[in-house]
Amino acid sequence: MDRIKILVTGGAGYIGSHAVVELYEAGFQPVIIDNFVNSQESALRGVEEILGVKVPFHRIDCNDLEAMRAVFAEEGSLRGVIHFAAYKAVGESVQKPLEYYQNNVGSLLTLLQVMREFGVEALVFSSSCTVYGVPDALPVTEQTPTKKANSPYGATKQMCEDILRDVAAAPDASLRTILLRYFNPIGAHPSAKIGELPLGVPQNLIPYVTQTAAGIREKLTIYGNTYDTPDGTNIRDYVHVVDLAKAHVVAVQRLLDAQAERVETFNVGTGRGNSVLEVVQAFERATGQKLNYVIGPPRAGDVPAIYADVTKSTQELHFQTTSTLEEALSSAWKWQLSLGA
Ligand code: UFG
Repeated sequence: MDRIKILVTGGAGYIGSHAVVELYEAGFQPVIIDNFVNSQESALRGVEEILGVKVPFHRIDCNDLEAMRAVFAEEGSLRGVIHFAAYKAVGESVQKPLEYYQNNVGSLLTLLQVMREFGVEALVFSSSCTVYGVPDALPVTEQTPTKKANSPYGATKQMCEDILRDVAAAPDASLRTILLRYFNPIGAHPSAKIGELPLGVPQNLIPYVTQTAAGIREKLTIYGNTYDTPDGTNIRDYVHVVDLAKAHVVAVQRLLDAQAERVETFNVGTGRGNSVLEVVQAFERATGQKLNYVIGPPRAGDVPAIYADVTKSTQELHFQTTSTLEEALSSAWKWQLSLGA
C-alpha cells in the first residue's frame, strides 16, 4: 500500500528531522522542504542513515509562493502538512522583528494559500509555551489565558495561532489544524545521527552545556539565581525531542482520521519543572562529566518558571514521556560526542 504523503516544512531542522524519522517509521511518507537558513544538509544524511532510504527533499523557502505551488503540484497527493519552518531565537527576534514577522507569519500565510489551492486540509503547527507569557499559576493548561508575548518571536507564534483559528472558523473553511505548544525540547535520536545543530554560539541551555563539557566553551553562565524559585534559578519543562516528534505523528493521524475538532491545542511537555541547577546536576550524574559554570545576571525576557499541565495531551493524544531528564541529557551528550568533540 502506498504511504500517505505528509509535507514537513523545516524538515532538516532539530525537531523537524526527528519528526521525519518518526513519521516514516510509523508508515507515512514524509516530504521535506527546507532552505537551510538555520539547519544543515547533514541532517538529511543522518535521517537517511537511520531510515535506510532517502526522503524526498525540496530546497525552497516557504515564503516563495511559486516554489511552494510547484512542490504541491509535483508531489501530487499530499494529505497533510507539519509546519516547523520558522525563525526561533527569542533574543534575535528583538533585534530583527521585521524579519521574524515576515518569515514566521508570511510563510504560514503562503502555506495556507497553497494548501487551499491544492485541497490539503490537515495542518500540524509548531507553537510554543512562549504564548503563555509569564503565567499567573502553574502548571499551565491549554485554557490558561495567553498574555502579551515577551518578544517578537513569541508574538509571531500568537499571531500564527490566531490566523489558524480564524481561517479554520470561516464558513467555507476546509482547514483542520492541531496547534502543538512545545515546552523545551532537548536530547537527540538514540542513534546519535541527528540532533540539535546550533549555528555559532548556542543560545539554548542544553547545547551550551554539552559544548562546555566538550571543551568548546569555557564555562556555562547560569542566568540568575535570585528568582522566586526553590533554588533561585529558572524552571522549565524539558521534553525529549523524540517524544515530541512522536506527538506530531499522533496529531497527523488524528487529523486524517477526522477525530479532531477544526482547531485543537495541546501542550507538549513532561508536566515536570526542573531548575537550571537541577539540569546541570542531572547532566553531571548522567554523563560523569564535571561542568564548569558560573552564576551571571538574569537574561532579559526570561520567564521565571513555566511547566505544562499535560492532562489533555495524555488523554487525547495519548502523549507519553518515555525518558527521564537524565536519559534525555545523556542522549544530548552522545550526540555532542558524535560531532567529534
Ligand atoms: N540558560 C542559562 N544559560 C545559558 C542558556 C540558558 O542559564 O547559557 C537558562 C535560561 O535562562 C532558561 C533556561 O536555561 O532559564 C532555558 O533556556 P533556553 O534558552 O534553552 O530556553 P528558553 O526557555 O529560553 O526558550 C525555549 C525555546 C524558545 C521558546 C521558549 C518558550 O528556545 O524557542 O522556550 O518559553 F520560545
